[in-house]
Amino acid sequence: MIKILRYLLLRYFCLGKKDSMLFNKYDNNHLDFSRINNLYIHIPFCKNICPYCPYYKEEYSLHKAKDFSLSLIKEIKLHKKNIEGKIIDSLYIGGGSPTLLLNTLIEAIDLLKSICTIRNIAIETNPEDLTEEILTALKNMKCNLISIGIQDFHQQHLKAIGRNYDAITALKAIKKAKKHNFDTVNIDIIFAIPGQTLNELNESLNKAINSKADQITTYPLFTFPYSSIGKFKKLNKVKSPNSFVRRKFYFHICDTLVKNGYQQISVWSFIKNSQHKYSSVTRNYYLGLGPSAATFTGNHFLFNVFDINTYQNKVHSSKLPYSLVMNVSINMEKLYWLYWRLYETKIPILEYKSLFSSDLLTDYKLFFVLLRVFRYARFDKEFIYINNNGIHYIHLIQNYFSLNFINKVWSQNYNNPNPLGIDLK
Ligand SMILES: C[S@@+](CC[C@H](N)C(=O)[O-])C[C@H]1O[C@@H](n2cnc3c(N)ncnc32)[C@H](O)[C@@H]1O
Ligand code: SF4
Repeated sequence: MIKILRYLLLRYFCLGKKDSMLFNKYDNNHLDFSRINNLYIHIPFCKNICPYCPYYKEEYSLHKAKDFSLSLIKEIKLHKKNIEGKIIDSLYIGGGSPTLLLNTLIEAIDLLKSICTIRNIAIETNPEDLTEEILTALKNMKCNLISIGIQDFHQQHLKAIGRNYDAITALKAIKKAKKHNFDTVNIDIIFAIPGQTLNELNESLNKAINSKADQITTYPLFTFPYSSIGKFKKLNKVKSPNSFVRRKFYFHICDTLVKNGYQQISVWSFIKNSQHKYSSVTRNYYLGLGPSAATFTGNHFLFNVFDINTYQNKVHSSKLPYSLVMNVSINMEKLYWLYWRLYETKIPILEYKSLFSSDLLTDYKLFFVLLRVFRYARFDKEFIYINNNGIHYIHLIQNYFSLNFINKVWSQNYNNPNPLGIDLK
């Protein structure tokens, strides 16, 4: 049943046969960076490796970090001509635990600023690392958006997901960050942790609200089969809450945060008293730097190699460290745009027209008729607003595709630093 649905959805959204979803091995393909207006830096080091984490990271050591820093700077220099003179809307620094490599970040940002103009800098941080010194350094680097990976406020759940701090440290981190006047302090909360009750989720939400975080982002715990927790669950038959419980938890989060003055700005994020969204994923075009970083030029979707040694060797022989490349047709580009606007729960009809010179409601007629019939969305002349019921189902479909996508790409890259190709269809 799921396979038939998947086939129909792919057929409908990807339209023609020409629109393959095939990643090929990168082979010095000609790339056009003219539309790039965002940057991403992936810092692949952590002191504590969390078993649920799907991202590419290595255990931190000073020696490994020094070698990596030289490569990152070299990679930026390799891209100089591709970003020279540009106005970059946002530089997003993620990982891993970026603040472990503060001096590298200072050097990388200084170098980037000598090449292009950067409007916003966003960074992911871990609560146990947020000292006054680090926060001051981030402000001096002109980071204006900060996210703290709080995850939960209960000791048993923090322990279960392998986090090495307590609720007091988490709350202090938020308080310190708030004092430094970032435009937005976002906190990440994970829900649907095995064994978590609705009452405990409610306690965590209340602590998050009382912390006065400007933005709260809540993710259900994803257990990717290739992550340690995925393997552990399979071996020990640990059960995550089922989809009904996850749905109940999700609606509870939406109700609670909206009642407390937060406005929903994406499937998972809620903002209050700030105009400036913190977002890790919804950029149109971006250039990724560092191992495993993705790049989307509009015509191509690419991944850097995941393995840090291969990454360093490629960069030092003056090669762009891409491993995989997908040709993106205009249909795929439209779909990519729609995917992230659905994620943001608000679809700007006119932006679609100005980007693609085409009419959104005509291009995806059946899809929008269904949204209207099932009352999953409200339409006006400029926007389509997805409501809570709609968000839930769209989230399920997106979840299925992104987990499949991430699982296929990440697991093949982890197993092989030079994968031959991956078909996502
Ligand atoms: C790249 S992670 C890292 C940020 C930072 N290193 C930390 O751990 O706090 C960004 C966010 O993704 C979320 N995340 C990571 N793995 C997840 C998973 N398996 N399921 C749900 N959320 C996850 C967490 O909330 C985390 O704060
Ligand atoms: S969740 Fe954060 S700290 Fe944990 S392994 Fe992933 S990136 Fe590192």
